[in-house]
Amino acid sequence: MVDTEESGMSAKQTLLRTLPADLDPARLPKHVAVIMDGNGRWAQSRGLPRIVGHQRGVDALKNLLRCCDDWGIGALTAYAFSTENWGRPLEEVDFLMTLFERVLRQQLREMMAENVRIRFVGHLETLPPSLQSEIERAMAETQGNTGIQFTVATNYGGRQEIVEACRAIAQQVRQGSLDPDCIDQTLFSQHLYTANLGDPDLLIRTSGEMRISNFLLWQVAYAELYVTETLWPAFDREAFHRALTSYQQRDRRFGKVRPR
Ligand code: FPP
Repeated sequence: MVDTEESGMSAKQTLLRTLPADLDPARLPKHVAVIMDGNGRWAQSRGLPRIVGHQRGVDALKNLLRCCDDWGIGALTAYAFSTENWGRPLEEVDFLMTLFERVLRQQLREMMAENVRIRFVGHLETLPPSLQSEIERAMAETQGNTGIQFTVATNYGGRQEIVEACRAIAQQVRQGSLDPDCIDQTLFSQHLYTANLGDPDLLIRTSGEMRISNFLLWQVAYAELYVTETLWPAFDREAFHRALTSYQQRDRRFGKVRPR
């Protein structure tokens, strides 16, 4: 990343230098979420084992994180593993758990150098203990960073997240520490895994499927959806540029009527 102070270049100039000229820097999403689908198909269409698709998927995710950071997008949330993904063949699940752990260990220094704050959301307690330790370490070491907020949904399910929030709120009511009249959308959001994160403005799904797949059910209420046929390992800067172009053509009214 460019040291703007020393080079005498303002942060805005840096942004404008890297952002494609046809994108309006004032109308970029603040938070992008992505369903990274199509790793297996990408690999199989090349005669490669599915796990190679997941390995290439990590590269695509790293590239997108860097691109968001370069273009001034403050938050990226990626769906790495759903509560339903445990139903995959055991060897694929084992491979993914080992991959997450290895990537975290290998990338921590780079994330520190690039000022990335990483956070994991999901039912983390049932992940392999060695992965949980790596997750805790990465979150603790990067929590003071001030750059892009990178959130990884792992063993994540939107319905489960909502149920867990309800249970936590109900317990407070039972203990007498919460008046049910005080339960509103803000309080509810604060009990989700994503408390204090802010909702995504843009949800991208690769590989053409038109589904939310239990991802951020509450949080995507007003997100713009963008589905591309591109398979996740092939999702590069050009593909992201196309997604942002589509986003900037949308008229976001949040249920209201635009004044004439
Ligand atoms: C969906 O493709 C992809 C996944 C279930 C795994 C995504 C995980 C990564 C890209 C690694 C991220 C790593 C870290 C450390 C955050 P699929 O297998 O469902 O593809 P298919 O639909 O073609 O079968």
